[in-house]
Amino acid sequence: MSVNANQRRLRLGVIGGGPGSFIGSIHRGGAVMDGLYEVVAGAFSSNAERAIEAAEALHVPRGYPSGHALITAEAERNDRCDVIAIMTPNDSHFALAQQALRSGFHVFCEKPLTHTSAEADELAQLAKAQNRLFCVAYAYSGFPMVRQARAMVANGDLGELRQVQVEYTQGHLATLTPQERTGDNWHFQPEVSGPSLILGDIGTHAWHLASFVTGVEPSHLTADVTTVVPGRSAHDTATLLTRYANNARGTIWVTQAATGAEHGLSIKVFGSKGGLEWYQQQPNELIYRPLEQPRQTLVKGGPGLYRAANRMTRVVIGHPEGYQEAFASLYRDLAEAITAKDSGQPLSPDNAFPTAEDGARGIHFIETCLRSVANGGQWEPLP
Ligand SMILES: NC(=O)c1ccc[n+]([C@@H]2O[C@H](COP(=O)([O-])OP(=O)(O)OC[C@H]3O[C@@H](n4cnc5c(N)ncnc54)[C@H](O)[C@@H]3O)[C@@H](O)[C@H]2O)c1
Repeated sequence: MSVNANQRRLRLGVIGGGPGSFIGSIHRGGAVMDGLYEVVAGAFSSNAERAIEAAEALHVPRGYPSGHALITAEAERNDRCDVIAIMTPNDSHFALAQQALRSGFHVFCEKPLTHTSAEADELAQLAKAQNRLFCVAYAYSGFPMVRQARAMVANGDLGELRQVQVEYTQGHLATLTPQERTGDNWHFQPEVSGPSLILGDIGTHAWHLASFVTGVEPSHLTADVTTVVPGRSAHDTATLLTRYANNARGTIWVTQAATGAEHGLSIKVFGSKGGLEWYQQQPNELIYRPLEQPRQTLVKGGPGLYRAANRMTRVVIGHPEGYQEAFASLYRDLAEAITAKDSGQPLSPDNAFPTAEDGARGIHFIETCLRSVANGGQWEPLP
């Protein structure tokens, strides 16, 4: 790890992610896993009282009644936060991230980054203008064997890219949920969750994973974005074809309405010299199919891995690592980048946290899919 052991821990301010939230404990646990951050401030709810109570319950020293109050107050302190982590529902990401950047903080923000590409592009430009680092929580890019896959593609082990397939199947929306009937869940409120539930919630992950591993973005796509469960208004399923500048082809299938499915995220990449397959439910293995040679299963911590994969591993071979560690790895990549920036030391070429530009590309992806649907499934160029 290239972070200076004598350096103080980075001070983290957390917005959202209170007790009982899906992602809060994953962020907080991931941030502190390597001893690089301390959570010094928090605004853990949209309700002012509960926000402060939660800070006390979580033993976070500086509790604030809102995210905006946190940023304003922290900006005035000598021992101010270094990084603001935003894990609120989607509609508040833009305003909070914008305020944090304007106040000079580095940002770690949940996906989907914003509701519109204009907002997302603005954040990417603002981060650059303010000279601040901005990590977007595309967590699957933190898994060691995903880093291995990316390194193998970058190293030419697969030859020229020919085909890419990403599948992300979940089953928790296979039927109408009680909260959906009562409207008591922000995911089903488009003004909060964004223009397409399925594309924002997991489509952006699938899109980023394909480009993270292959190192290229498709030039065009055609999309079918729909609702397969009767009585539901939000999109629960999307099927896409993609086309690359070199004539490679891809498919993306994302759904939360696959009955009985758990967390079936997988990626397959095939090139002129070999293929790779990674399955999120067996995250510590990567299947490698070299042309006209026997299939190999590469394992986390095992022989034959690139440094890019080994640096993301904390536990010895045979011991599982997963989602929590992947978040920790993104927090660590961000910490290393901040340290390199502050000290003027070079940053490892293997440091690869998803940036605001990656977050913005995810929003352009959503808008391009919806444009294709509106145009009757026409092929649309990516901006
Ligand atoms: N990267 C991933 O793998 C991943 C996984 C799950 C969720 N997410 C993203 O994380 C975000 C939160 O999702 P979740 O499932 O944890 O939601 P959630 O509803 O489970 O929790 C949201 C939390 O934020 C708090 N909150 C809401 N509005 C707030 C505000 N304005 N200020 C401060 N606190 C506020 C709530 O009290 C709650 O504690 C979403 O953007 C979602 O897309 C990402």
